[in-house]
Amino acid sequence: MYNASMAMADPSWKAFLERIEHAESREELLRIEHELFGRKSGVMTLKMKELQAISPEERPKYAKELNTWKQKLSQALEEAAARLTIPADTVLASHDTLDVTLDLPERERGHLHPIQEFLRHVEEVFGRMGFDVATGPEVETEELNFTMLNIPESHPARDAQDTFWIKSAKKGKDRLVLRTHTSPVQIRYMRTHKPPFRAIFPGKVYRKDADATHSPMFHQFEGFMVGKDITLANMKAVMIAAITQLIPGEVEFRFRTGYFPFVEPGLELDVRWQGEDKTKEGDWLEIVGCGMVHPTVLRNGGLDPEEWQGFAFGFGADRMAMIRHQIPDIRSLFPGDVRFLRQF
Ligand code: DAH
Repeated sequence: MYNASMAMADPSWKAFLERIEHAESREELLRIEHELFGRKSGVMTLKMKELQAISPEERPKYAKELNTWKQKLSQALEEAAARLTIPADTVLASHDTLDVTLDLPERERGHLHPIQEFLRHVEEVFGRMGFDVATGPEVETEELNFTMLNIPESHPARDAQDTFWIKSAKKGKDRLVLRTHTSPVQIRYMRTHKPPFRAIFPGKVYRKDADATHSPMFHQFEGFMVGKDITLANMKAVMIAAITQLIPGEVEFRFRTGYFPFVEPGLELDVRWQGEDKTKEGDWLEIVGCGMVHPTVLRNGGLDPEEWQGFAFGFGADRMAMIRHQIPDIRSLFPGDVRFLRQF
């Protein structure tokens, strides 16, 4: 004979009851309900079917027990369903008991990349001196990157800069390059603004160069100041005022003549600084190219060089940020390794 007590062994109704009482979502509840009362394979459904196989004498005893559980579980399901349907006004009602002392898990706060942070500082420093901030495209025309800046077709500077050329249908003067410096923004700015003006142009530039002090992508900030009577003396004052604010500690300056086709005369500015602890005597480091804007460049920007004159400058931003934070290798700046970035 069919062994009734084995067939009707308790399939752990209690465990089901607990699961229902602790269910945390409607979905979870529906899953449990299906496990129990699913039409084909619900545990309760199958047990009910098994009752048929039990002898008529024994059946009532098991039927009663099963029915009790069926009722208990159904009721628990209903209660849980009510609990998990949150009426709209309970959120408001619970305000009275909102525990504002609850400790939330701590969240780590990030910060700007040291280069971006430095560039913002640059904008602030020049902003205080009345400089506007403008940007230009990183994919630039050959004409604006070179020709308009007085760098002629055959000029070795075009090679020296080891340009990345862009493959595109654009030919001739419209040929595209990844800009090798921020200087083309000078032309763009002159063509769209009325002098007198002073502005800086921060951004990314690209050259085929890679070692401890060169990265194929790096940052510069260009700037210029154009008016009726702007001179090298103004340039010197602005450069010194800016750099003293950008590099901590004591800084010495050295202006040397230097050649750049877009300025005349052209200068290079070296700095030597002592770290804040004043223990280390630094080496002279070239950080800026500068000079008086070449008349041809003014003309290319749509200005009459008889009427307007001014100075321009281009800084290597990464180099300055490296000095500021004493970072020895430029290549550590760009892989995005948080162990490095957390130090700033
Ligand atoms: N564009 C130059 C470079 O990338 C830097 C530079 C030098 C910019 C002299 C200037 C300047 O505006 O006057 O090497």
